[in-house]
Amino acid sequence: MRKKKASSVALKMLMAGTGILLVLFLFAHMAGNLKIFVGQAAFDHYGHWLRDLGAPLLPHTGFLWLQRTGLTVAVLAHILAAVVLARRARAARPVRYAHRPKVQGSYAARTMRWGGVIILLFVVFHILDLTTGAVNPVGDKQHPYANVVADFAPSRWYVTLFYVLAIVAIGFHLRHGIFSALRSLGQQTPHGERRARAVALALSVVLVAGYLCVPFAVLTGLVK
Ligand code: HEM
Repeated sequence: MRKKKASSVALKMLMAGTGILLVLFLFAHMAGNLKIFVGQAAFDHYGHWLRDLGAPLLPHTGFLWLQRTGLTVAVLAHILAAVVLARRARAARPVRYAHRPKVQGSYAARTMRWGGVIILLFVVFHILDLTTGAVNPVGDKQHPYANVVADFAPSRWYVTLFYVLAIVAIGFHLRHGIFSALRSLGQQTPHGERRARAVALALSVVLVAGYLCVPFAVLTGLVK
């Protein structure tokens, strides 16, 4: 019994650790995306720089492949830990509630599973869209700026809508995820919990706004 408890703590640490890595990626990616406001040359240059990062130690696109491997391992470990923890929570309550209580934590906490699924579907679409270019009207790897501008053209409003929904889902997922990670790793007092809640909300709002301003800038013609 004791052993099982300890490993649940380890799984929560794994969720927190992999979650932090994913959040760091999200902030770095957001900062890169904001370069679109500097102009076409700066944004395309940034895209090319990403491919040559670490040269000559790393081969061309070496850094990107390291990042892809790291992100894939982190996502898989994050999902695996979530599934095992959810099963344990269910096993601890063999008789399911006849009527689910209406209030069970915040909206963000209740949508973690479906939020995660939407994010995963979005990432698959996003890679086909802006990395391989398979579903992008331009789809030219040498010109990421042109790909982004074509992507969020007013006529493709449904693509922008999907991005907006996915990014808002990411915001909710992060709000609860960052809060849980800070609670697992930090001070477990009412004051620590309040602080964790405030930090999680602030980081999620910055991230959602930072991502959303790119499609909206294209949609309104600010970036063209
Ligand atoms: C409006 C929001 C976003 C824009 C404009 C955007 C833009 C881009 C662009 C242009 C690329 C290709 C970079 C290149 O190869 O030169 C890319 C790749 C990528 N983006 Fe995004 N992105 C957005 C949101 C997101 C979000 C929310 C996530 C994660 C949930 C994400 C995850 C990725 C990943 C994993 C890659 C692949 C990197 C690689 O090639 O290995 N992006 N994004």
